[in-house]
Amino acid sequence: MINKKEIEGKIIDKEKYSFASDNFIKEPLIFVIFGGGGDLAKRKLLPALYRLYFNDRLDCEFKIISAGLPELSPEQYNHFIEESIENYNSDIYEENILKTFKENIEFIGLDFEVESDFNSLKQKIIKTADLMNISKPNVIYYLAVPPQFSETIINNLGKNKMQKIFNARIVMEKPFGYDLKSAVRLNNEIQDVFNEEQIYRIDHYLGKETVQNILFFRFGNSIFEPLWNRSHIDHIQITVAESIGVGNRGEFYEENGVIRDIVQNHIMQLIALVTMEPPVIFEAEEIRDEKVKVFKSLEKMSEEEVSKNIVFGQYGSGEISGDKVESYRKEDNVDTYSTTPTFMAGKFNVNNWRWSGVPIYVRTGKRLPNKLTEIYIEFKQPPLKLFENKCDEINPNGLLFSLQPVEKTSLELNMKLPGVGNLPYSVEMAFNYNEEFDTGLLPSYERLLIDCMKGDLTLFARRDGVEAMWENVEPILEVAEEIPHKYFPNYKAGSWGPTESHKLLKKDGRKWRVDGE
Ligand code: BG6
Repeated sequence: MINKKEIEGKIIDKEKYSFASDNFIKEPLIFVIFGGGGDLAKRKLLPALYRLYFNDRLDCEFKIISAGLPELSPEQYNHFIEESIENYNSDIYEENILKTFKENIEFIGLDFEVESDFNSLKQKIIKTADLMNISKPNVIYYLAVPPQFSETIINNLGKNKMQKIFNARIVMEKPFGYDLKSAVRLNNEIQDVFNEEQIYRIDHYLGKETVQNILFFRFGNSIFEPLWNRSHIDHIQITVAESIGVGNRGEFYEENGVIRDIVQNHIMQLIALVTMEPPVIFEAEEIRDEKVKVFKSLEKMSEEEVSKNIVFGQYGSGEISGDKVESYRKEDNVDTYSTTPTFMAGKFNVNNWRWSGVPIYVRTGKRLPNKLTEIYIEFKQPPLKLFENKCDEINPNGLLFSLQPVEKTSLELNMKLPGVGNLPYSVEMAFNYNEEFDTGLLPSYERLLIDCMKGDLTLFARRDGVEAMWENVEPILEVAEEIPHKYFPNYKAGSWGPTESHKLLKKDGRKWRVDGE
């Protein structure tokens, strides 16, 4: 049993605490970043790799080869890395550590379309491995590129046999396809070259500590599992709210919208974790099998059901935390008559023995009042009103998994208000990750990188899962694509979305846990 005191206040000490050995990479590694000079490399990947290095988690001989165009000189790329760490890791910016980190990184010019450039990359990897004294190195190819380049890169890796001559893994960012058809095509293309065990489809939500805690909480405590079903749970709410707009991602967002950006992946994964059956063992394939069963049990909606159960929104101008903000249609690279939804609320049903009749309400959107990501499980009211009408207002028990702004899990219970009579007093029993482990939490990208380096696929999406998730959102996308431009904008920036989102629950006699009303 790990006790809190042992890890309080320090980055987990690998010598002292054997439980932490999982968090450290020992085997030599060559990490190739396609798109190494791009935005994702700058904002996420290099900062995550640097933090792993800084905290000694990357405790092995490693080389990072960044590949892409335009070609950057060593000085230019050094500057790029420094900017990245300064902007995104300023808390751990240390000249001497950064210097040795940079010594392990090299940039090479590579045109994704040119097969012979991949041969040069291959030679580079072979030479690097020779210098490291390894005959068959572990190589991770990270596709930090816009989705349209994925297939070309994969084909060129295949033509050069770069998936075979090394112990290779490939990491891909979402979106995995644009719809079911393109996802199937993309998956076919990848599987022509890589085995499924080599493919790491990353969804950063699965790297969040509270998200992983959902399964631990469910299957590590015996008191909840007997209640975890339609007999005791009234409904489930999932909210992924953001106060930011689309920023400089207008072009990406116009193509994808909220359904492809958040619902098809993050929200589907959250639904699966909350509702899946216990796996027979806690291993990647068994966990992923159970998730796929959930995706398959989600009721597929007809066009009519989508109109009844799904609410679409797009933000107009408004105010957030006292600042005036523009409407979506005025963002850079967004069409003036855009019909892209930036908000979606919906009611889903997992049609299986355990969940039949328990609605799962989800909502997600940009330019909502604040960043709030949570899963809320509301239990049924007690069967009898023993405390008579004085207690009509008794709150149902609720279990909250909060991912943002704080990572916490809490249970709402009713106690007796002191004094004569029986009046209810709501209390919260809470466990807050950040208060308890102030420096010990691994940010999600780092966690997922470690898993990939170790070859653990548990937190990555599998082919059948991705395709089943697309099947669930396709009917919604079809209706969304027909929305006339006059329908939008239909919610003010800084509000909790269109009024229909509130009505969706109201007509079932329920309300959002947080809705500002
Ligand atoms: C990404 C989306 O996957 O998740 C972004 O592309 C969104 O649009 C982001 O802002 C939200 O992630 P998080 O971890 O901040 O909730």
